Amino acid sequence: MSPLLINFAYVISAALFIFGLKMLSSPATARRGNLLSALGMFIAIIFTLMAQGLDYKWILLGMAIGTGIGIVAAVKVEMTSMPEMVALFNGFGGISSLLLAWAEYHQHPEMSVFIAIVAFLSAFIGGVTFTGSMVAFGKLAGKITQKAVVFKGQHIINAAILATAVIAAVLFCMTPQSGAGYALFILIILVALGFGVTSTIPIGGADMPVVISLLNSYSGIAACAAGFVISNNILIVAGALVGASGMILTNIMCKAMNRSLSNVLFSGFGTTTAGQGDSDGPQGEVRPASAEDVYYILEAADSVVFVPGYGLAVAQAQHVVKELGDLLEANDTEVSYAIHPVAGRMPGHMNVLLAEANVPYDQLVEMDDINPRMDTIDVCVVIGANDVVNPAALDDESSPIYGMPIIETQRAKTVIVLKRSMNPGFAGIQNALFFAENARMYFGDAKASIQALVAEFKSD
Ligand code: TAP
Repeated sequence: MSPLLINFAYVISAALFIFGLKMLSSPATARRGNLLSALGMFIAIIFTLMAQGLDYKWILLGMAIGTGIGIVAAVKVEMTSMPEMVALFNGFGGISSLLLAWAEYHQHPEMSVFIAIVAFLSAFIGGVTFTGSMVAFGKLAGKITQKAVVFKGQHIINAAILATAVIAAVLFCMTPQSGAGYALFILIILVALGFGVTSTIPIGGADMPVVISLLNSYSGIAACAAGFVISNNILIVAGALVGASGMILTNIMCKAMNRSLSNVLFSGFGTTTAGQGDSDGPQGEVRPASAEDVYYILEAADSVVFVPGYGLAVAQAQHVVKELGDLLEANDTEVSYAIHPVAGRMPGHMNVLLAEANVPYDQLVEMDDINPRMDTIDVCVVIGANDVVNPAALDDESSPIYGMPIIETQRAKTVIVLKRSMNPGFAGIQNALFFAENARMYFGDAKASIQALVAEFKSD
């Protein structure tokens, strides 16, 4: 097949990837975006296979097994287990790049310095991605400790491992074709696999979403390098797109938490701050409310904004929240759902839950759109959210979350907070919002609490 035709097909695939990615940025178009990208990948695979004139039986068998596993996984996986699944997929992407670089080197050890460099990058980054993703999967699935595993001298060990990789890489790239070159390549692979583990275990389970997005980016960079190893244009483009979009998402998440990437990767966040007692946080009078009290407040409101957080996911309260939203709308109340970018424990966590409950997309509002209108809102109902509505982020310079953008519910006329206790959230700090004059605490499991409100509305 003519290289011109193949490259033309690759341009079409690349365009489909780019439009698909763009469409993933809105819930309304995300599904079509996914299909478009899949079509792009299909075209890329077909044309690559046709170009190579390969023996198809093993490839078809591989595709059939992969497709089967993919279908079963996609159908069976719970929405709440999405991050684990993404971690596994990233890991497989990483190991593919590693194996591809290895196979290419094994077959053609007489490589140029440039190809040796990209083979090293593909194998090293791919190896780190593989074991790092497996650790991330283990932590998220609760198969290994979710806590940040930190010990003395950890940074020194990691630095020593990295230094070994760099020295081995330099020696390997100088003489890949020598016997020592092969041994160095194997050493690089082993070091990469080890580094994936040692660089991921110091990160707390709740910070894993950031790590997964970073590993996703690594898997793209490894694939991009692998594309150079085998001179495949679409692999270079697809890898670069994954690498860049993963970096952008990682950056968005770090900014939304007001933490640097190095703080996420090296600080062992959660090992010291979590569980801080109430005594050293803000104090004051708490105003508890019953289901009936909350019902009267909601019933009289013209505008209600729900602010969901991690507790919504824990309680699986999304369906009852939608039911309550519908009842409020029937009562002529304007209803919306304000989403903080890092509410919950994974990117888009709240969007996924609310979409599952069929909350219309046009009722979802972003933090930057709701905050300027907050003074006009009658009631904010905070459902299992804590850090993302903590005013300490705005006014307490000593707070670990100082500078993190929040949904400023404290400025609404009334705030109702649904949670089970006065316990802190992910950052382990107490929340002054709970003592504010305009705040009422409605204690209990979010699902049961909202069910009680729905019952009040229905009995009216
Ligand atoms: P959190 O600050 O963790 O607060 C969740 C609250 O939900 C807790 O205060 C808890 O209080 C309550 N809760 C738990 N189970 C509940 C239930 N069954 N019913 C009612 N309430 C329940 O959550 P958030 O406000 O969503 O903030 C997210 C945090 O995670 C941020 O600190 C963010 O930086 C961090 N984080 C997020 C991500 C991503 S990508 N989303 C990544 C890394 C870190 P009780 O125990 O009293 O009920």
